[in-house]
Amino acid sequence: MKSRRSHVYRYRRCGALAALAAFVLGFLPFPTNGSESPGRTHDRQPIARGGAVEKHCNQCHGENGHSETPDIPSIAGFSMLATMDLLDTYRMGLRTARTVKLPDGTETNMVEVAESLSEKDELEVVIYFANQEWRPHPQTFDAELARRGDLVHEEKCERCHYDGGRDPESDLPLSAGQWREYLEAEFENFDSGRRAMSDKMKEKYDTLSAADKQAIIELYVSAGNY
Ligand code: HEC
Ligand code: HEC
Repeated sequence: MKSRRSHVYRYRRCGALAALAAFVLGFLPFPTNGSESPGRTHDRQPIARGGAVEKHCNQCHGENGHSETPDIPSIAGFSMLATMDLLDTYRMGLRTARTVKLPDGTETNMVEVAESLSEKDELEVVIYFANQEWRPHPQTFDAELARRGDLVHEEKCERCHYDGGRDPESDLPLSAGQWREYLEAEFENFDSGRRAMSDKMKEKYDTLSAADKQAIIELYVSAGNY
């Protein structure tokens, strides 16, 4: 196990999380996290099972947010702040979204989805996905390349994407075991500017060679099992 690094970035977010939690707990059932706390015996099922909004998400993101479609990301297990931040990037126009056809024939994309969420719906979905289990997608990979990716990641990315992109406490999207096809598309989107990066990530990302990027994708696809 690699050590987890804490830093200013993380502490800045802790305050926000505490405020958010206090707000959420005011009007939603206590979020499920698998561990029972004494004295709280009321039914937690509605959130664990997923309501209408989560079912809408899962039409594309798969059952409980575990995607069966390699060009759509799994989002099960993303922290509350990670999902909220990601939804914001669509609303703020920082990320272009692909249009996807739903089983009933209607078409939509993440910008429309994010914009249609009420505050209450959003809180419910972020809690729901934070309480699902992140399950890496088993995929073939080149172990030597993944090891090389780990070295570059350790130096340039680990500061924010803890534990090779596997730790929900980073409050960022999880990448270890994410679909290769989706990851490749996002690296291309960062390269072309279709998706914006924070200045701090860009500073590091722009120092990567094409080979470094391939190696990091391999590391993510390996989910650390190299
Ligand atoms: C019509 C299909 C569709 C629906 C419905 C949908 N999504 Fe998405 N979602 C996508 C696609 C495709 C992407 C990634 C590519 C893109 O941005 O177009 C994505 C990306 C995301 C991401 C970013 C993941 C990452 O790793 O960066 C989050 C978070 C997300 N969706 C949450 C949700 C939530 C929450 C809902 C329900 C309220 C939802 N999505 C509904 C198709 C959908
Ligand atoms: C200063 C913190 C920081 C550093 C350093 C950083 N990132 Fe990020 N990264 C972020 C943030 C914040 C996001 C979420 C961006 C968004 O909301 O669209 C992100 C998102 C991503 C995503 C998108 C994943 C997804 O599913 O949407 C990838 C891939 C990624 N980073 C790769 C890297 C790589 C590779 C490096 C090292 C070269 C790196 N990052 C360094 C903060 C950082």
